[in-house]
Parts: sequence; structure tokens; C-alpha cells
Amino acid sequence: MAQTFDVIVIGAGPAGYVSAVRAAQLGMKTACVEQWKTPKGEAALGGTCLNVGCIPSKALLESSENFERVTRKFENHGISVSGAKMDVGRMMARKDTIVAKMTKGIEFLFKKHGVTWLKGHGKLAGKGEAGWQVEVKGDGPSESVEAKAVIIATGSKARHLSGVPVDNETICDNVGALAFAQVPQRLGVIGAGVIGLELGSVWRRLGAKVTILEALPVFLGAADESVSKAAWKIFSERQQLDIRLGVDLAKVEAGRKGVTVEYAQGGKRQKLECDKLVVSVGRVPNTDALGAENVGLKIDGKGFIEVDAHCRSNLHNVFAIGDVVRGPMLAHKGEEEGVMVAELIAGQKAHVNLETIPWVIYTSPEIAWVGRTEQQLREEGTPYRAGQFPFTINGRALGQDETEGFVKMLAHAKTDEILGVHIINMHASELIAEAVVAMEFRACSEDIARIVHAHPSLSEVMHEAALAVDKRSLNM
Ligand code: FAD
Ligand code: NAI
Repeated sequence: MAQTFDVIVIGAGPAGYVSAVRAAQLGMKTACVEQWKTPKGEAALGGTCLNVGCIPSKALLESSENFERVTRKFENHGISVSGAKMDVGRMMARKDTIVAKMTKGIEFLFKKHGVTWLKGHGKLAGKGEAGWQVEVKGDGPSESVEAKAVIIATGSKARHLSGVPVDNETICDNVGALAFAQVPQRLGVIGAGVIGLELGSVWRRLGAKVTILEALPVFLGAADESVSKAAWKIFSERQQLDIRLGVDLAKVEAGRKGVTVEYAQGGKRQKLECDKLVVSVGRVPNTDALGAENVGLKIDGKGFIEVDAHCRSNLHNVFAIGDVVRGPMLAHKGEEEGVMVAELIAGQKAHVNLETIPWVIYTSPEIAWVGRTEQQLREEGTPYRAGQFPFTINGRALGQDETEGFVKMLAHAKTDEILGVHIINMHASELIAEAVVAMEFRACSEDIARIVHAHPSLSEVMHEAALAVDKRSLNM
């Protein structure tokens, strides 16, 4: 007799584990199937985000930023440091400790809430007496389990390019790029997207000469045009990240001495020699080997599971969440979808507002935004007013010596409802939260303008940007 559950979640990344915890909180008998193994061969929860994504990358970003503070930024505060050295092994060990702490934390949560962890690969197998059948293949013989509802949260993996063989030693995707044993002298990166910029920044700060090759002729096209223009200046001119746009890759060859990348730019053939190459050209959903064909689960041409606004697939009581479905590939988006479907299965009302999902790029300074960009509003023909205020004259930013960037607020010209907020600043990831709350409550720029913001604080720049929408900034 197969083990039966109310809910089986396949995948324990941020979307899946949060969904499993919420389902268990709501009193449902819940199992979560997860196949992840660490480099040491140990089973682990947490998916891409905790093991080879958000968490380790932010640990390295912090360590490398600290190194940059000591070697370049502290001087202005009157602190001189000589002989500062980076111990890459220690930095990596710290990152691994954080990852282990976080992934073990999910094991603890599963135990606390009574979620059964089924170790192995999960595959949709058909329909049984108790509901959907899932076949789980771990180290031992495969096991068949059944549940009334299935939540697919199988996530994504790095997209690879044909002719660019990733070995995660010399040519790396995110997995290898988070585990270099030493700082490469010359680092090549293909793709000036989020990973390229974040990981490029880590290794640049530690002394690598970083060259990023980007296919598109524009830089950070998804961000607001004022932000991408400012970011281009900061990254390429001040920080000397060598970002080459409009690149057409021709040949990538790995040899004993590193990698040679041949490409064309503006019709001219060029060559890049580097010690390591990171390939960060987007991610693809994990839907192969999921058994979709066994049950008739609909998958679109790009491999994403087709779902409606409530993450319902074409099959009754089969849901899909996180990177494996449409929408931004962000951990917090998947987590909220996970909560939503658990609540829907429990008979509650729930939704996720995809319009107010914040984006953050953890470069230095950070870039964060929510809602529409100015170029989107122009294209849509939406009438708007824009207010922008710089950090250069904010007392707190001056004290921190982190004055780069600004807050830009876009509000509807007639109703004044906030339509988008864009920030470039060292602490943009924290500052954006105010804008997300405001937009979720459909606030106007005037609401932010009338709210008291602490002094001196970076949040005063949000206040001033709101005032600037009505052309009444007080400090400029
Ligand atoms: P995943 O985290 O990919 O988890 C899916 C899980 O399903 C995996 O553990 C996998 O082993 C398991 N699985 C797959 N198929 C099966 C199967 N058939 N049976 C059993 N198990 C299966 N996002 C942010 O919001 N902020 C960030 O700062 C950020 N930084 C990132 C940095 C990097 C370098 C990368 C690569 C990504 C980053 N992301 C970030 C994106 C974020 O990691 C993803 O959006 C998030 O992990 C998606 O969550 P998920 O649960 O949908 O999928
Ligand atoms: P991305 O989509 O952000 O960027 C990929 C870049 O590669 C694009 O600019 C694209 O034009 C370029 N590209 C594609 N093919 C190319 C080619 N053949 N040659 C040169 N350039 C090419 O993807 P990335 O950086 O791999 O990250 C994947 C996803 O992971 C992100 O979109 C995001 O959803 C998530 N992520 C989120 C983070 C965050 O929230 N801070 C951090 C890292 C990743």
C-alpha cells in the first residue's frame, strides 16, 4: 500500500519548502520530495537559492565588499590599513558555513511542522486510489506515494550555450563561479545580467580583471533607463568592469592555460583570453524527467509549466510555483506563490500580486526597483510624473561615504498613484521595501510625501523623491 498524503511538493527550493511548511501549518499531511546532493554527497534542502544561488552569492558579495572597504574605502574615514590580504579559502569556508546553517534550518522546519522529506527524484506517475501518484527514486529502490494535491516546485538550472562546454572548473555556470579556489587574474563573463554583474563584482573587488561580453546592444534593459545609465557609468567607468555590448560569440575554446573566446563586436572580430569563464545567460525551467507526459501536464515551448494566475496547471489539484512557471525567477516570488497554493488547497482565498514584486541586483551600489519603468510607461502611453532625488546631499549617505545614486518615483499624472520606484544606492535592497508596501496599498506619491521619515536616514531620499513628483523637493 502506497504512503498517502494530502499534499506532495516536488522540490524543496524557496518555493517548495515554504509551500510545504505552509501546507503543514494548515493541518495537511505533507511530504516534500527533494533530490539535491551537496558536493560531499549529502542530501540537502533549499534548492538553488540556498545551495548555489542567493545565499552563497550574497555571502561572497559581503566578504568582497569588506575587502574593498578596507583596501579602498576606509582611507577617506582616516583609517589606513596596510598589508590587507584576502584568504579565499576562508571566505569560501564562511560561505559554506552559512549555506549549511540555512539548509539545516529547513530540515529543522520540516521536523517542527511534521513535513516528511522524501529523498530522491520525484516523477509524476499517474492516478491512484488516493489521488496523484508520484514515484520517488532515491538511493534505494523507487517508492510510489500518493496525494490529493501535488505542488511542482522543481525550479531552474543555468542555461548553457552550444559550443561552450561548462565543466565548472575553467568554464563555469553559477555553481562553479561560487567556488573558485583563488582569484582568477583574468575573468571572462558571458552575459551582463544579474549573475554576471553580481559575480563579476565579487571577483573584480578581489583583484580580477573582469571582462563581460553581452549580446544585447543595451545595458540592463530591464531596469529603468535612468538607473541603467547611472549604473553603466559607475560599473564601467569608476569600477572598471570592462563591459562589451552587442557581442556575437563565435568560438569558445578551453586549453591548459585558460579560455579563449572569439567574438564579433560592431562587425569587428575580437579575442578575449581569460583564466576562467563564467556563463550567465539566463536559466531554464526543470521540467525534463518530471513525468509530465505520464499525466498530460501542459508545458509550454520554453519548458515552463503552464499555469493560471493562481498557479493552477491544466490538471485538477496539480499546481506549479517558482522558477518552473512564468514570471520573474526570484526566490521571494516563488515563496509567495508557495504560500498562496497551500492556502488555496486548504480552501482559503489567496493571491500573489506579480505587479509589486521587487527586483534587487546586489552590486555596489545596489539596484532595486518595483513596478513600471519610465520607458514602459511611455510605450504604454500612460500619463505620468517623475520625481528624482540624489543621495549626494543626504546627511546619512554623506556620513556613510556612500553617496552614489538616487531614488526615482513615477506616479500617474492624474490619480498620483505610484506606478514605479527605482533606486540605486548601497542599501537599495532595504529601501525598496517602503515602495513595495506603498504600491501594494495603492498609495499616491503624496502619501509618501506626507509620511514622516527619520532624520538623518537614507529613507529621506524616498521622501524627497515623492516631493519631487510634485516639484516641491525641500532640500534641493
Ligand atoms: P529552486 O531553488 O531551483 O529549487 C528547486 C528544487 O527542486 C531543487 O532543490 C531541485 O533539486 C529540486 N528538484 C528539481 N526537480 C526535481 C525532481 N524531479 N524531484 C525532486 N527534486 C527536484 N533570487 C532572488 O530572489 N534573490 C537573489 O539574490 C538571487 N540570487 C541568485 C544568485 C544566483 C547565483 C542564482 C543562480 C540565482 C539567484 N536567485 C536569486 C534566483 C533564485 O535562486 C531562484 O529564483 C529560486 O531559487 C527559485 O526557487 P524555486 O524553489 O522555484 O527553485
Ligand atoms: P539574466 O537573464 O539576468 O541575464 C542574462 C544576460 O545574458 C542577458 O543580458 C542576455 O542578453 C545575455 N545573453 C544571453 N545570451 C547571450 C549570448 N549568447 N552571449 C552574450 N550574452 C548573452 O540571467 P542570469 O544573469 O543568468 O541570471 C538568471 C536569473 O537568476 C536572473 O534573471 C534572475 O531571475 C535570477 N537571479 C537573481 C538575482 C537577484 O535577485 N539578485 C541574482 C542572480 C540571479
